[in-house]
Amino acid sequence: MEILKTRHLTKIYGKGTNQVTAVDGVSLSVEQGEFVAIVGSSGSGKSTLLHMLGGVDRPTSGSVMIQDEDIYRMNDDRLAIFRRRQVGLIYQFYNLIPVLNVAENMALPCELDGRKPDIDYLRELAETLGLSKRLKHLPNELSGGQQQRTAIGRALITRPAILLADEPTGNLDSKTSDEIVALLKMSNRKYKQTIVMITHNLEIAKQADRVLVIEDGRIVNRETEQCRMVNQKQQRTEPAPEGELRNWNQEGR
Ligand SMILES: Nc1ncnc2c1ncn2[C@@H]1O[C@H](COP(=O)(O)OP(=O)(O)O)[C@@H](O)[C@H]1O
Ligand SMILES: [Mg+2]
Repeated sequence: MEILKTRHLTKIYGKGTNQVTAVDGVSLSVEQGEFVAIVGSSGSGKSTLLHMLGGVDRPTSGSVMIQDEDIYRMNDDRLAIFRRRQVGLIYQFYNLIPVLNVAENMALPCELDGRKPDIDYLRELAETLGLSKRLKHLPNELSGGQQQRTAIGRALITRPAILLADEPTGNLDSKTSDEIVALLKMSNRKYKQTIVMITHNLEIAKQADRVLVIEDGRIVNRETEQCRMVNQKQQRTEPAPEGELRNWNQEGR
């Protein structure tokens, strides 16, 4: 089932001679439960694209469908609610609230939505993310990897339709980066979490099921040799086993 689909998605910044076409007619589609990486160099339009996928930034033209809903047809208020409930975002610099502890940061998207977080699920996430002993700690008492794990917990707490990650390992050493990507992959397998991750690091991207390449705001068909190897390998790989866990995305919200 297709969960995310864009048509001719375009973002133009500025006017006249200052005009920059950051994203240029991108049409892509992501299946429910897929883990997709988008690679591209700095300035290629990755963040702009991701923000439009997540309902953060309105496109100049084109559309984004999430779960068959054309999100930019919503007014700003509805879009804000949709984004809060259906989109999980992870950034390079974690964007945690410094005065809130780990548990409070993780619960924040629910609180902002006027709901109590599912405490059992929060505990389970903390356990899975290796944060059980850190729940009362403030962000400045945590390592970079722990802060990013907290941000992953915060992104997952609402059981979003899609998880979007913008250079999630961009500020971490290579060992911690591997851990973070492994956790994203685990959430993809365990919770059937659909993930779109952008990165300029091909080694990180290779962990995904599928790799797309963006250049000058366009998804290019010309794959690099390494991406082709990832994509071919994935085609040969058996789908991940169902596992014993529930498919959160299929549940009523
Ligand atoms: N708010 C903005 N105003 C003007 N230009 C922007 C803005 N945001 C991004 N750009 C430009 O759009 C292009 C793509 O930027 P971005 O999406 O941040 O790329 P990436 O994340 O791949 O580094 C760049 O040329 C950048 O300078
Ligand atoms: Mg960027």
